[in-house]
Amino acid sequence: MYKNLIKKNTEIKKMKKVGKIVSNVLKMISEYVVPNITTGELDRICHDYIIYEEKSFPACLGYNGFPKSTCISVNDVVCHGIPNDKKKLKDGDIVNIDVTVIKNSYHADASKMFFVGKPTILGKRLCYVTKKSLDLAIEIVKPNIYINQIGKVIQTYVEKKDFSIVKDYCGHGIGRNFHENPQILHYYKKENKFLLKENMTFTIEPMVNAGSHHIKSMQDGWTIKTKDRSLSAQYEHTILVTKKGCEILTL
Ligand code: MF3
Ligand code: CO
Ligand code: CO
Repeated sequence: MYKNLIKKNTEIKKMKKVGKIVSNVLKMISEYVVPNITTGELDRICHDYIIYEEKSFPACLGYNGFPKSTCISVNDVVCHGIPNDKKKLKDGDIVNIDVTVIKNSYHADASKMFFVGKPTILGKRLCYVTKKSLDLAIEIVKPNIYINQIGKVIQTYVEKKDFSIVKDYCGHGIGRNFHENPQILHYYKKENKFLLKENMTFTIEPMVNAGSHHIKSMQDGWTIKTKDRSLSAQYEHTILVTKKGCEILTL
């Protein structure tokens, strides 16, 4: 059951390398997230940086037919926003940029929120709570805990702050494949008693809505929005389980 989920040392070395590349992309793009830029332009900058500077490949491009190199999700877009050249970012927008890179056949996946100009109080608070929910979850990751403890920590904290956790999407094992087992739910499910083991690699990527947790899918077949049009935020890291805890590979 655990066979392919526990990475060998040679694989971990590659995961660390690609993890660093993903964090470089998110750092590089931050200065470009300003009013009047389009998400299409941000995507092109990431695409060119990944290919020409990092000599790697953007895993989203062509993945199940996804047309761009990154997912960029603005305000009420929960995830899988398709970058485009039409809509310009404006002051007060909150923007998630989700980057997955392949290098030497291994994947790393991370995303974070950016503020365009000056954030609203709600936007800032939502992003703070979402980031903290991920940090709290990462803190408890170590060998031999039940996987459902991750979702428990996230859901408990988010709901205490009167926000809601999206239940339709989850974190995932990652390595040679973009999405591998196990699934990492961001809410508590009692039966989910899979045990974490040293050298497993997976993502944690909570999506948090300011209103209800319900979502709706758009006609483009990708974009997911909040059903009530409330703001949504997400942070994601790729994690390696170590002997005593875990290491963030996309920091
Ligand atoms: N990066 C997303 C995740 O966190 C997946 C995006 S799939 C795509 O798992 F096709 F939309 F790019
Ligand atoms: Co992911
Ligand atoms: Co991602």
